[in-house]
Amino acid sequence: MRIYDIIEKKRDGHKLTKEEIDFFVQEYTAERIEDYQASALLMAIFINGMDEEETVNLTESMAKSGDMLDLSAIDGITADKHSTGGVGDKTSLVVAPICASLGIKMAKMSGRGLGHTGGTIDKLESIEGYNTSIDTDAFFKQVNEIGIALIGQTGNLAPADKKIYALRDVTATVDNISLIASSIMSKKIAAGAQNIVLDVKCGSGAFMKDEQSAVELAEMMVKIGKKCGRNMAAVITNMDIPLGSNVGNALEIKEVVDILNNKGDEQLRELCLVLSATILSISYGWDYEDAYIKAENTLTDGSALNKLKELVSAQGGNTQMIDNTSLLPKCDNSLEIKTNQDGFIQSIDSKIVGESAVLLGAGREKKTDTIDYGAGIILYKKTGDKVSVGDTVAILYADSDEKLKNAEKLFNTSYKIGAEKPCEQKLIYQTIR
Ligand code: URA
Repeated sequence: MRIYDIIEKKRDGHKLTKEEIDFFVQEYTAERIEDYQASALLMAIFINGMDEEETVNLTESMAKSGDMLDLSAIDGITADKHSTGGVGDKTSLVVAPICASLGIKMAKMSGRGLGHTGGTIDKLESIEGYNTSIDTDAFFKQVNEIGIALIGQTGNLAPADKKIYALRDVTATVDNISLIASSIMSKKIAAGAQNIVLDVKCGSGAFMKDEQSAVELAEMMVKIGKKCGRNMAAVITNMDIPLGSNVGNALEIKEVVDILNNKGDEQLRELCLVLSATILSISYGWDYEDAYIKAENTLTDGSALNKLKELVSAQGGNTQMIDNTSLLPKCDNSLEIKTNQDGFIQSIDSKIVGESAVLLGAGREKKTDTIDYGAGIILYKKTGDKVSVGDTVAILYADSDEKLKNAEKLFNTSYKIGAEKPCEQKLIYQTIR
């Protein structure tokens, strides 16, 4: 088999066989195919597309390119939740404790943030002492004992995807539904959970800008997961507005604790409950409404908060920071953003808010950048809110005035004020099963 022939076949719009897809994935991972040939094939796929069978084959091939976690050593029902990436998205840190407190085994590997989107692992590392890289045996033992472990992705989970995604990033071939679906699902399949719920974001801060394309992506991922023998559901949610009020690692942990204390942002709470109820209903076969009520009870009776504390303690973190969130890192320098106009907030561009957080030090522009856990943004006004001259829209936190000034300029372009109250936006569009 020759990569040249595979490129030519896809260039001419034909369907690739499983053997051809396996050949590309294996040979490229083993560095026996050059980047320029892999790029040509990815562009041919981008332009001519792949059908469902090709997409499933690509997913399976990438999943098998590294370790396939066997979760059979875990007693009970395993579940995983994945978000396609957003600004202020801290739902995993609420959903995992809720589900674990109701008996689901949450053996979860998460990623780090890059660009305008944050990552669960960085958020957890803002808790003093929290170890995100425990070994596999300790990971399984912890899940069996307390029902939950949250660690960083192991080096060898879907290595083919790692290489291909890095190449797509620099060859303008990211935004293709088959390539995104196979990339995300290869990691989820390799991570081993039997039940998988996806939060597919749509809007300005997301890969999918409109509901239709988010639905297409979600349907494709649900089909792939089912073909690979997993129970699947996907919830399509709004990323035109940042989720909750806090953006930045320690600030987001504080918001997680607020929700688990049955307080905090209503929309964030609602999304966490919808995702939890979806996991519980596909995993246990519970009626969705019952699952929702049970999930909500874990917030009112404190069991989900206790589960977070058990998790933090098991992984070496300082639980006093959960009991008293003022102990979490917070930058000393801050800047209030005030309005100079009366009216209503018409829109907030999530992507720009995320990019402003990166300028403050809360995220990374490139993988090697270090993070300032205490940096970030608290939003006091969001889309639809009434504002008067002098009201505080947000407070920015950073370790220097220079960073605050740079971020202020960008942040000021993220929101628009107008005279009319804008139509209310939906947070949750639909669920696909
Ligand atoms: N996230 C991924 O892991 N892969 C993509 O292709 C897009 C988002």
